[in-house]
Amino acid sequence: MVIMKTKGVIEQAISDHLCHARNNVDFPETLVMADLGCSSGPNTLLVGSIVINAVANTSFEMGLKAPDIQINLNDLPTNDFNSVFVALQELQQCSTNGQFMDVHAQPTCYFTWVPGSYFGRLFPMKSLNFVHSSYSLQWLSQTDFLRFLRCRSEEMMGGRRMVLTLSGRTTDDARDEERYQLWRPLAMALQDMVFEGLVEEEKFDSFNIPSYTASPMEIMSLVKMEGSFILEHLEIFYVNWEAWKREEKKDNDASELKQLTDDHGFGHDVSKAVRAGIESLVANHFGEAILDDVFKRYGQNIIATGPKETQKRVSITISLTRKM
Ligand SMILES: C[S@@+](CC[C@H](N)C(=O)[O-])C[C@H]1O[C@@H](n2cnc3c(N)ncnc32)[C@H](O)[C@@H]1O
Repeated sequence: MVIMKTKGVIEQAISDHLCHARNNVDFPETLVMADLGCSSGPNTLLVGSIVINAVANTSFEMGLKAPDIQINLNDLPTNDFNSVFVALQELQQCSTNGQFMDVHAQPTCYFTWVPGSYFGRLFPMKSLNFVHSSYSLQWLSQTDFLRFLRCRSEEMMGGRRMVLTLSGRTTDDARDEERYQLWRPLAMALQDMVFEGLVEEEKFDSFNIPSYTASPMEIMSLVKMEGSFILEHLEIFYVNWEAWKREEKKDNDASELKQLTDDHGFGHDVSKAVRAGIESLVANHFGEAILDDVFKRYGQNIIATGPKETQKRVSITISLTRKM
Protein backbone atom coordinates (compact mmCIF):
# COMPACT_ATOMS: atom_id res chain seq x y z
CA MET A 1 0.00 0.00 0.00
CA VAL A 2 1.67 3.21 -1.19
CA ILE A 3 0.27 5.40 1.57
CA MET A 4 1.94 3.22 4.22
CA LYS A 5 5.33 4.45 2.95
CA THR A 6 4.49 7.89 4.32
CA LYS A 7 2.99 6.61 7.58
CA GLY A 8 6.11 7.56 9.57
CA VAL A 9 6.07 11.15 8.27
CA ILE A 10 2.36 11.55 9.16
CA GLU A 11 2.89 10.07 12.64
CA GLN A 12 5.87 12.35 13.26
CA ALA A 13 3.85 15.42 12.23
CA ILE A 14 1.01 14.50 14.64
CA SER A 15 3.42 13.67 17.44
CA ASP A 16 5.29 16.99 16.98
CA HIS A 17 1.99 18.87 17.03
CA LEU A 18 0.77 17.26 20.26
CA CYS A 19 4.14 17.24 22.05
CA HIS A 20 4.37 20.96 21.34
CA ALA A 21 1.99 21.49 24.27
CA ARG A 22 4.11 22.49 27.24
CA ASN A 23 1.62 21.29 29.84
CA ASN A 24 -1.87 19.86 30.39
CA VAL A 25 -3.46 23.26 29.91
CA ASP A 26 -1.89 23.73 26.44
CA PHE A 27 -2.76 20.22 25.30
CA PRO A 28 -5.36 20.52 22.49
CA GLU A 29 -8.92 19.36 23.11
CA THR A 30 -9.63 19.18 19.38
CA LEU A 31 -7.61 18.32 16.29
CA VAL A 32 -9.11 19.42 12.97
CA MET A 33 -7.55 17.83 9.90
CA ALA A 34 -8.22 17.76 6.16
CA ASP A 35 -7.34 15.12 3.56
CA LEU A 36 -7.38 16.89 0.20
CA GLY A 37 -8.10 14.87 -2.96
CA CYS A 38 -9.14 11.89 -0.82
CA SER A 39 -10.81 10.00 -3.71
CA SER A 40 -13.31 7.23 -2.84
CA GLY A 41 -13.03 3.63 -1.69
CA PRO A 42 -11.63 1.72 1.30
CA ASN A 43 -8.16 3.35 1.08
CA THR A 44 -9.69 6.81 1.44
CA LEU A 45 -9.97 6.34 5.18
CA LEU A 46 -6.46 5.01 5.68
CA VAL A 47 -4.91 8.42 6.35
CA GLY A 48 -7.64 9.13 8.90
CA SER A 49 -6.95 5.86 10.71
CA ILE A 50 -3.18 6.56 10.77
CA VAL A 51 -3.89 9.96 12.35
CA ILE A 52 -6.37 8.49 14.86
CA ASN A 53 -3.79 5.91 15.98
CA ALA A 54 -1.01 8.50 16.18
CA VAL A 55 -3.19 10.79 18.32
CA ALA A 56 -4.20 7.89 20.60
CA ASN A 57 -0.61 6.67 21.05
CA THR A 58 0.95 10.10 21.63
CA SER A 59 -1.78 11.13 24.10
CA PHE A 60 -1.33 7.84 25.97
CA GLU A 61 2.45 8.35 26.18
CA MET A 62 1.90 11.84 27.58
CA GLY A 63 -0.69 10.53 30.05
CA LEU A 64 -3.34 12.91 28.70
CA LYS A 65 -6.83 12.51 27.30
CA ALA A 66 -6.77 12.28 23.51
CA PRO A 67 -8.32 15.26 21.71
CA ASP A 68 -11.49 14.86 19.66
CA ILE A 69 -10.65 14.63 15.96
CA GLN A 70 -12.56 16.19 13.09
CA ILE A 71 -11.58 14.65 9.77
CA ASN A 72 -12.58 16.70 6.72
CA LEU A 73 -12.49 14.61 3.54
CA ASN A 74 -12.19 16.73 0.41
CA ASP A 75 -12.40 15.92 -3.26
CA LEU A 76 -14.09 17.33 -6.36
CA PRO A 77 -17.92 17.37 -6.25
CA THR A 78 -17.99 14.48 -8.76
CA ASN A 79 -16.25 12.17 -6.25
CA ASP A 80 -18.31 9.20 -5.08
CA PHE A 81 -18.71 10.32 -1.47
CA ASN A 82 -21.47 7.73 -0.95
CA SER A 83 -18.98 4.88 -1.24
CA VAL A 84 -16.83 6.64 1.37
CA PHE A 85 -19.85 6.49 3.72
CA VAL A 86 -19.94 2.71 3.23
CA ALA A 87 -16.18 2.34 3.82
CA LEU A 88 -16.51 4.47 6.96
CA GLN A 89 -19.13 2.13 8.39
CA GLU A 90 -16.83 -0.85 7.78
CA LEU A 91 -13.91 0.95 9.43
CA GLN A 92 -16.04 1.78 12.46
CA GLN A 93 -17.07 -1.87 12.78
CA CYS A 94 -13.44 -3.02 12.54
CA SER A 95 -12.32 -0.50 15.15
CA THR A 96 -15.13 -1.60 17.49
CA ASN A 97 -13.84 -5.17 17.09
CA GLY A 98 -10.32 -3.99 17.93
CA GLN A 99 -8.98 -4.55 14.41
CA PHE A 100 -6.69 -1.98 12.73
CA MET A 101 -6.54 0.22 15.84
CA ASP A 102 -3.82 0.17 18.48
CA VAL A 103 -4.60 -0.71 22.07
CA HIS A 104 -4.95 2.81 23.49
CA ALA A 105 -8.31 4.47 24.02
CA GLN A 106 -9.51 5.86 20.73
CA PRO A 107 -10.29 9.53 20.33
CA THR A 108 -13.82 10.51 19.38
CA CYS A 109 -13.93 11.20 15.63
CA TYR A 110 -16.22 13.28 13.48
CA PHE A 111 -16.13 12.91 9.68
CA THR A 112 -17.17 15.67 7.30
CA TRP A 113 -17.30 15.73 3.48
CA VAL A 114 -16.03 18.87 1.79
CA PRO A 115 -16.70 18.80 -1.97
CA GLY A 116 -14.78 21.47 -3.88
CA SER A 117 -11.47 22.31 -5.50
CA TYR A 118 -8.41 22.84 -3.35
CA PHE A 119 -7.29 25.54 -5.80
CA GLY A 120 -9.60 27.76 -3.79
CA ARG A 121 -10.42 28.25 -0.11
CA LEU A 122 -12.29 25.31 1.45
CA PHE A 123 -12.11 26.11 5.18
CA PRO A 124 -12.41 29.15 7.48
CA MET A 125 -9.33 31.17 8.40
CA LYS A 126 -6.91 29.45 10.79
CA SER A 127 -9.23 26.50 11.39
CA LEU A 128 -6.96 23.53 10.50
CA ASN A 129 -4.37 21.77 12.68
CA PHE A 130 -3.22 19.24 10.11
CA VAL A 131 -3.48 18.93 6.32
CA HIS A 132 -2.68 15.89 4.21
CA SER A 133 -2.79 15.26 0.47
CA SER A 134 -1.38 12.41 -1.57
CA TYR A 135 -1.10 11.77 -5.32
CA SER A 136 -3.37 14.63 -6.23
CA LEU A 137 -1.06 17.61 -6.60
CA GLN A 138 0.95 16.31 -9.54
CA TRP A 139 -1.82 17.57 -11.80
CA LEU A 140 -0.78 21.14 -11.11
CA SER A 141 1.21 23.82 -12.84
CA GLN A 142 3.76 25.71 -10.72
CA THR A 143 1.32 28.63 -10.43
CA ASP A 144 -1.37 26.30 -9.13
CA PHE A 145 1.02 24.86 -6.57
CA LEU A 146 1.68 28.39 -5.28
CA ARG A 147 -2.09 29.05 -5.20
CA PHE A 148 -2.60 25.79 -3.27
CA LEU A 149 0.02 26.82 -0.69
CA ARG A 150 -1.49 30.31 -0.36
CA CYS A 151 -5.00 28.94 0.35
CA ARG A 152 -3.69 26.43 2.90
CA SER A 153 -1.59 29.12 4.59
CA GLU A 154 -4.81 31.05 5.27
CA GLU A 155 -6.71 28.01 6.53
CA MET A 156 -4.00 26.61 8.82
CA MET A 157 -3.09 27.76 12.29
CA GLY A 158 0.50 28.88 12.88
CA GLY A 159 2.91 26.11 13.89
CA ARG A 160 0.72 23.36 12.38
CA ARG A 161 1.79 20.72 9.87
CA MET A 162 0.95 19.76 6.30
CA VAL A 163 2.17 16.50 4.71
CA LEU A 164 2.04 16.28 0.89
CA THR A 165 2.98 13.34 -1.32
CA LEU A 166 3.23 13.87 -5.06
CA SER A 167 4.63 12.17 -8.09
CA GLY A 168 7.94 13.79 -8.83
CA ARG A 169 11.24 13.37 -10.59
CA THR A 170 14.72 13.05 -9.20
CA THR A 171 16.49 15.30 -11.72
CA ASP A 172 16.04 18.98 -12.50
CA ASP A 173 15.59 18.24 -16.20
CA ALA A 174 11.84 18.56 -16.82
CA ARG A 175 12.20 16.52 -20.04
CA ASP A 176 13.46 13.57 -18.05
CA GLU A 177 12.13 10.15 -19.09
CA GLU A 178 10.59 9.52 -15.64
CA ARG A 179 8.01 12.15 -16.38
CA TYR A 180 6.62 10.46 -19.47
CA GLN A 181 5.89 7.07 -17.92
CA LEU A 182 2.32 8.09 -17.17
CA TRP A 183 1.61 9.95 -20.39
CA ARG A 184 3.14 7.78 -23.12
CA PRO A 185 0.45 5.06 -22.76
CA LEU A 186 -2.20 7.80 -23.05
CA ALA A 187 -0.59 9.26 -26.18
CA MET A 188 -0.45 5.74 -27.68
CA ALA A 189 -4.15 5.18 -26.90
CA LEU A 190 -5.21 8.47 -28.46
CA GLN A 191 -2.96 7.96 -31.50
CA ASP A 192 -4.57 4.56 -32.14
CA MET A 193 -7.99 6.16 -31.87
CA VAL A 194 -6.94 8.76 -34.46
CA PHE A 195 -5.93 5.91 -36.83
CA GLU A 196 -9.30 4.26 -36.25
CA GLY A 197 -11.16 7.51 -36.94
CA LEU A 198 -12.51 7.76 -33.39
CA VAL A 199 -10.57 10.92 -32.53
CA GLU A 200 -9.88 13.91 -34.78
CA GLU A 201 -6.19 14.39 -35.56
CA GLU A 202 -6.48 18.12 -34.98
CA LYS A 203 -7.85 17.52 -31.49
CA PHE A 204 -5.04 15.06 -30.78
CA ASP A 205 -2.37 17.56 -31.89
CA SER A 206 -3.79 20.35 -29.74
CA PHE A 207 -4.15 18.27 -26.54
CA ASN A 208 -1.88 19.22 -23.63
CA ILE A 209 -1.73 17.91 -20.09
CA PRO A 210 -0.65 20.66 -17.70
CA SER A 211 1.12 18.13 -15.55
CA TYR A 212 3.83 19.24 -13.22
CA THR A 213 6.05 16.59 -11.71
CA ALA A 214 8.39 18.51 -9.49
CA SER A 215 11.99 17.90 -8.59
CA PRO A 216 13.06 18.29 -4.95
CA MET A 217 14.88 21.54 -5.83
CA GLU A 218 11.76 23.01 -7.45
CA ILE A 219 9.60 22.09 -4.47
CA MET A 220 12.07 23.72 -2.10
CA SER A 221 12.23 26.92 -4.15
CA LEU A 222 8.41 27.15 -4.56
CA VAL A 223 7.86 26.69 -0.83
CA LYS A 224 10.42 29.42 -0.19
CA MET A 225 8.89 31.70 -2.84
CA GLU A 226 5.37 31.42 -1.35
CA GLY A 227 6.86 32.19 2.04
CA SER A 228 4.27 30.93 4.57
CA PHE A 229 5.76 27.51 5.31
CA ILE A 230 8.98 26.01 6.63
CA LEU A 231 10.08 22.81 4.91
CA GLU A 232 10.80 20.39 7.77
CA HIS A 233 11.34 17.19 5.86
CA LEU A 234 11.62 15.96 2.26
CA GLU A 235 11.74 12.30 1.34
CA ILE A 236 12.10 10.65 -2.07
CA PHE A 237 11.00 7.09 -2.66
CA TYR A 238 10.38 4.83 -5.64
CA VAL A 239 7.03 3.15 -5.96
CA ASN A 240 6.81 0.02 -8.01
CA TRP A 241 3.69 0.38 -10.12
CA GLU A 242 2.62 -2.96 -8.78
CA ALA A 243 1.74 -1.12 -5.58
CA TRP A 244 -1.16 0.47 -7.47
CA LYS A 245 -2.90 -2.82 -7.80
CA ARG A 246 -6.27 -3.32 -6.25
CA GLU A 247 -6.73 -4.69 -2.78
CA GLU A 248 -9.88 -6.46 -1.79
CA LYS A 249 -11.20 -7.79 1.46
CA LYS A 250 -11.47 -11.54 1.73
CA ASP A 251 -14.96 -12.85 2.14
CA ASN A 252 -15.97 -13.18 5.78
CA ASP A 253 -12.69 -11.73 7.03
CA ALA A 254 -12.40 -7.96 6.99
CA SER A 255 -8.92 -7.98 8.51
CA GLU A 256 -7.15 -9.80 5.69
CA LEU A 257 -6.41 -8.24 2.37
CA LYS A 258 -6.26 -10.14 -0.87
CA GLN A 259 -4.10 -8.75 -3.66
CA LEU A 260 -4.98 -9.25 -7.27
CA THR A 261 -1.77 -9.97 -9.11
CA ASP A 262 -2.97 -10.55 -12.64
CA ASP A 263 -1.79 -8.16 -15.33
CA HIS A 264 -5.30 -7.22 -16.33
CA GLY A 265 -6.05 -6.05 -12.80
CA PHE A 266 -2.76 -4.16 -12.68
CA GLY A 267 -3.36 -2.29 -15.96
CA HIS A 268 -6.94 -1.55 -14.94
CA ASP A 269 -5.92 -0.16 -11.56
CA VAL A 270 -3.19 2.14 -12.89
CA SER A 271 -5.65 3.33 -15.52
CA LYS A 272 -8.31 3.97 -12.85
CA ALA A 273 -5.93 6.02 -10.71
CA VAL A 274 -4.77 8.10 -13.68
CA ARG A 275 -8.36 8.53 -14.87
CA ALA A 276 -9.30 9.98 -11.47
CA GLY A 277 -6.74 12.71 -12.03
CA ILE A 278 -7.28 13.66 -15.68
CA GLU A 279 -10.75 12.48 -16.64
CA SER A 280 -12.25 15.97 -16.71
CA LEU A 281 -9.33 17.26 -18.78
CA VAL A 282 -9.78 14.52 -21.41
CA ALA A 283 -13.59 14.92 -21.41
CA ASN A 284 -13.40 18.70 -21.85
CA HIS A 285 -11.11 18.36 -24.87
CA PHE A 286 -12.39 15.22 -26.64
CA GLY A 287 -15.91 14.81 -25.19
CA GLU A 288 -17.16 12.32 -22.61
CA ALA A 289 -18.00 9.63 -25.17
CA ILE A 290 -14.38 8.47 -25.58
CA LEU A 291 -13.58 8.16 -21.86
CA ASP A 292 -14.25 4.44 -21.28
CA ASP A 293 -12.51 3.46 -24.52
CA VAL A 294 -9.42 5.62 -24.05
CA PHE A 295 -8.80 4.51 -20.46
CA LYS A 296 -9.37 0.85 -21.35
CA ARG A 297 -6.67 1.22 -24.02
CA TYR A 298 -4.51 3.09 -21.52
CA GLY A 299 -4.61 0.07 -19.17
CA GLN A 300 -3.73 -2.29 -22.03
CA ASN A 301 -0.80 -0.07 -23.03
CA ILE A 302 0.49 -0.04 -19.46
CA ILE A 303 0.67 -3.84 -19.56
CA ALA A 304 2.29 -3.78 -23.01
CA THR A 305 4.97 -1.30 -21.90
CA GLY A 306 6.91 -4.01 -20.10
CA PRO A 307 7.12 -6.09 -16.96
CA LYS A 308 5.37 -4.29 -14.14
CA GLU A 309 8.25 -5.02 -11.73
CA THR A 310 10.51 -2.64 -13.68
CA GLN A 311 7.98 0.18 -13.94
CA LYS A 312 8.67 2.57 -11.12
CA ARG A 313 7.63 6.10 -10.44
CA VAL A 314 9.24 8.65 -8.21
CA SER A 315 7.30 9.95 -5.22
CA ILE A 316 8.22 12.90 -3.06
CA THR A 317 6.80 13.47 0.42
CA ILE A 318 7.22 16.81 2.16
CA SER A 319 6.31 17.88 5.67
CA LEU A 320 5.71 21.62 6.08
CA THR A 321 5.08 23.80 9.14
CA ARG A 322 2.87 26.90 8.82
CA LYS A 323 4.93 29.85 10.05
CA MET A 324 3.59 31.56 13.20
C1 LIG B 1 -5.08 9.63 -7.78
S1 LIG B 1 -6.35 10.15 -6.70
C2 LIG B 1 -5.51 10.07 -5.11
C3 LIG B 1 -6.38 9.53 -4.03
C4 LIG B 1 -5.78 9.38 -2.64
N1 LIG B 1 -5.41 10.66 -2.08
C5 LIG B 1 -4.58 8.44 -2.64
O1 LIG B 1 -3.49 8.85 -2.23
O2 LIG B 1 -4.75 7.28 -3.00
C6 LIG B 1 -6.41 11.92 -6.98
C7 LIG B 1 -7.68 12.55 -6.42
O3 LIG B 1 -7.52 13.97 -6.43
C8 LIG B 1 -8.77 14.54 -6.77
N2 LIG B 1 -8.57 15.91 -7.26
C9 LIG B 1 -8.00 16.28 -8.44
N3 LIG B 1 -8.02 17.62 -8.54
C10 LIG B 1 -8.61 18.10 -7.41
C11 LIG B 1 -8.92 19.41 -6.94
N4 LIG B 1 -8.60 20.49 -7.66
N5 LIG B 1 -9.52 19.55 -5.73
C12 LIG B 1 -9.83 18.46 -4.98
N6 LIG B 1 -9.55 17.18 -5.38
C13 LIG B 1 -8.96 17.00 -6.58
C14 LIG B 1 -9.31 13.59 -7.83
O4 LIG B 1 -10.71 13.73 -7.97
C15 LIG B 1 -8.90 12.24 -7.26
O5 LIG B 1 -9.91 11.67 -6.46
